[in-house]
Amino acid sequence: MNIICKTVFKKLHIMFPIQFKNIRILISLFILVTANTVLNSGSIYAQSIHSEKSVQKRISTDLFGVFFEDINYAADGGLYAELVQNRSFEYSPADHTGWNPFTAWEYITPGYAYGNISVASNQPVHENNPHYVVLTIEEPAKEGVGLKNAGFNGIPLISGDTYLFSIYIRQLAGAAIPVTIQLTGRDGKVNAETKIVTDSDQWKKYTAVLKAGATDDSASLVIIAKAKGVIALDEVSLFPQNTYKNEPNGLRNDIAGTIAAIKPRFIRFPGGCLVHGDGLGNMYRWKNTIGPVEQRLQQKNIWGYHQSVGLGFFEYFRFCEDIGAEPLPVLPAAVCCQNSGGSWRIGGTGQHGLALQEMGDYIQDVLDLIEYANGPANSVWGAKRAAAGHPLPFNLKYIGIGNEDQQSDTFRERFKLIQEAVKQHYPAINVVGTVGWSPDGTEFTQGWQFGKQQKVEILDEHYYMNPDWFLRNQHRYDQYDRSGPKVYIGEYASRGNTLYNALCEAAYMTSIEKNGDIVQLASYAPLLARKGNTQWNPNLIYFDQTNVYPTINYYVQQLFGNNSGNRYYSHIVTGLNDSSIAASCVTDSLTGDLILKIVNVEDTLHMVHVNLAAFRNLEKNAVVTVLSGRPQTINNVTGVTNIVPVVTAIQTTKTFDWNLPPYSFTILRWKQKSKQ
Ligand code: AHR
Repeated sequence: MNIICKTVFKKLHIMFPIQFKNIRILISLFILVTANTVLNSGSIYAQSIHSEKSVQKRISTDLFGVFFEDINYAADGGLYAELVQNRSFEYSPADHTGWNPFTAWEYITPGYAYGNISVASNQPVHENNPHYVVLTIEEPAKEGVGLKNAGFNGIPLISGDTYLFSIYIRQLAGAAIPVTIQLTGRDGKVNAETKIVTDSDQWKKYTAVLKAGATDDSASLVIIAKAKGVIALDEVSLFPQNTYKNEPNGLRNDIAGTIAAIKPRFIRFPGGCLVHGDGLGNMYRWKNTIGPVEQRLQQKNIWGYHQSVGLGFFEYFRFCEDIGAEPLPVLPAAVCCQNSGGSWRIGGTGQHGLALQEMGDYIQDVLDLIEYANGPANSVWGAKRAAAGHPLPFNLKYIGIGNEDQQSDTFRERFKLIQEAVKQHYPAINVVGTVGWSPDGTEFTQGWQFGKQQKVEILDEHYYMNPDWFLRNQHRYDQYDRSGPKVYIGEYASRGNTLYNALCEAAYMTSIEKNGDIVQLASYAPLLARKGNTQWNPNLIYFDQTNVYPTINYYVQQLFGNNSGNRYYSHIVTGLNDSSIAASCVTDSLTGDLILKIVNVEDTLHMVHVNLAAFRNLEKNAVVTVLSGRPQTINNVTGVTNIVPVVTAIQTTKTFDWNLPPYSFTILRWKQKSKQ
């Protein structure tokens, strides 16, 4: 550098003799400052990277979102804040071996009281909710006869918080019956109590508010009838008043808040395999999931438990709106899962399609969903949304049709009918098609051919692969045809929750950003899992009744979600290998910020070189966020310190070298200088 400077100064003397002294001084100063910056940074690369021109392009503004599936108790016993398990006595052996309408309930006869309970189904609260309990109180004694529900492994209570109780009761025999409602602690002591008195021989909803006297992680709800007689009970509910954004029939504050903290640009719901279901009768039908909760049609969950559908399409749309995410509902392509009745490989009943004469009604259901989301409040389905408390549209712009369906003629025929009807009635809606369950192979190839032929706007790829696959495949989307369908990477994960897994995913996500002109949407899967109730591992967020446990993979998603942009720049960071050392650079036009993401999946320090010459008007101060640690660490494992992002600040020059710690994900973020 010194030699170059000296040579340039000599030339300046020749070009600008003594009478042009001032120009000579100015040019010399400029060269010195530039040289200093380069020398101070110690960078030899910074001089040369101008030859590799930075190319910029617009990328998707919806790029990183989340995929919610009711798997691992993600809905009932999870995000849905209902604290009573099997609240409508609809559990059955079809849901899970050994389950029945009394599952999660205990018949109690404290003291000398006696009576009996049975299940009945004549004149139910609603035909969609057929089973209820008949409680006969033969001898109430002092303590009464009743039922107890311990929720999902215990009802969590917070001292001073209020809980909304409700129940449907029909008096079948005897005079008015006083009923005591209690929240009892792990130790059996009464934590909160209230009373109602039955006064109707028709189904009537009774409500009460209970205030917890003490914090308890394992309380129970007790309902005790204290006079002779017979009553029918159904739809027994207990909600914390403090739900996410205080929405009625709402979501668990802590879990919803953890999802919201990702700042996902979209939420795909309600699955996954749950969508196409185990047999035609088990396909997810969105219309069964709206309206008053006691009138919704519940069903078996393909993952081996039960769907109360208390968390239904209205609640999903509302959650999307609450967190500023685009809704991406997925509906079945009128075929059930090819693994129905057990895997097709081992002789299950396989994929079936709705009879073609039923397709008219089915397609109408799909169109009605779009009207439910976007239609005016005086349209047939828009009115149902308005009746639920949301007269304004939800502004749906994506709809998924099908999930990982086998590319059979049965599937294609039905998909085509649905897709063409959607486009005919709602040309602005983007249809998301499906291309199987792996990153290549027959289903994938045929799915893409069919999707292109059908001019589907977006195709949904799924892959669960080893971490090293994610390192090796960072050029996957570089060559994708930019004139065909866009890509939704609807499900991906690297089969583990270690820091190493999370970093491989982070490295891959920089390549997704790089290809954000063709990749429209991407979501890690699955999102949620209740500890002790998992059907799938790994997941992004674990929880139990009182706590939420974000994985390291979660922090990677959160860092991308909170540092997204809408314009991508190449060649800003050099010294990469696009595998174990990867980076991306974006700007965000909303904030004006410049954001670099750099990943080191190696066990040694690695130096990269940053050149910000392409950007004007940046602040010198940058916020630096680093996620790093020992590669095999898994958060929330006893005895291991959790790995979380650490935030600091630095001052930078236009060009500089940056040392990446071993096994690290670093984000550097600059603001624009404010205009005076
Ligand atoms: O994410 C878990 C499951 O994986 C999804 O339900 C399915 O789409 C995929 O096979």
